[in-house]
Amino acid sequence: MRFDIITVLPELLDGPFSHSILKRAQQKGHLEVHLHNLRDYATNKQKQVDDYPFGGGAGMVMKVEPIAACIEKLLSERSYDEVVYTSPDGLRLDQGICNRMSLLNNVIILCGHYKGVDERIRQKYITMELSIGDYVLSGGELAAAVIVDSIGRLIPGVLNDETSALTDSFQDNLLAPPIYTRPAAWEGMSVPEILLSGHEAKIDEWRYEQSLERTRARRPDLLGE
Ligand code: ADE
Repeated sequence: MRFDIITVLPELLDGPFSHSILKRAQQKGHLEVHLHNLRDYATNKQKQVDDYPFGGGAGMVMKVEPIAACIEKLLSERSYDEVVYTSPDGLRLDQGICNRMSLLNNVIILCGHYKGVDERIRQKYITMELSIGDYVLSGGELAAAVIVDSIGRLIPGVLNDETSALTDSFQDNLLAPPIYTRPAAWEGMSVPEILLSGHEAKIDEWRYEQSLERTRARRPDLLGE
């Protein structure tokens, strides 16, 4: 899967994809992340990518021409399944969206900045707007990192143990059960006996009950309660 991220702050995205699972995913050829500096597509000498809003008001607006030039260049090179715009007004990202998007081939992510993007870019190019939660970030780069991370790890072949994504929180609309590792006893707190029993079926049952209990206590909305 290939992500092309259009941003005014590419430096912000140098780190998140260079470690751990996402680094390995790129080395194994499952994931490509290409950063495009919007300023490289600015047409005037000042490399201007924003301008004052028509009608007045606070904040700057991302200009159409540099974004259009960058997106047009990408569209001339390959076809894209989605052109995503990161925005607090978008569809709220959840595990279901991540699961579905992990099967796509090529995705553009336009990182929103300043007050946002000129509406005509949304009308002409954007096929999907994504929010990572009901709060406002100072820019879309961290949202893009969250989107690529949460989708990238689900691309078939990325996780070593194929089943491990299936036991994540939110798969099956349940939170994950408690987990433990050695030592079995620590500061008077012991690991539940069942986990030391070696009885796989009973352990699965215990984990399911714990998941259900935790979800009921913390996120009853996931159970439709
Ligand atoms: N840009 C600013 N806030 C955002 C959010 N919550 N999600 C995605 N992009 C954003």
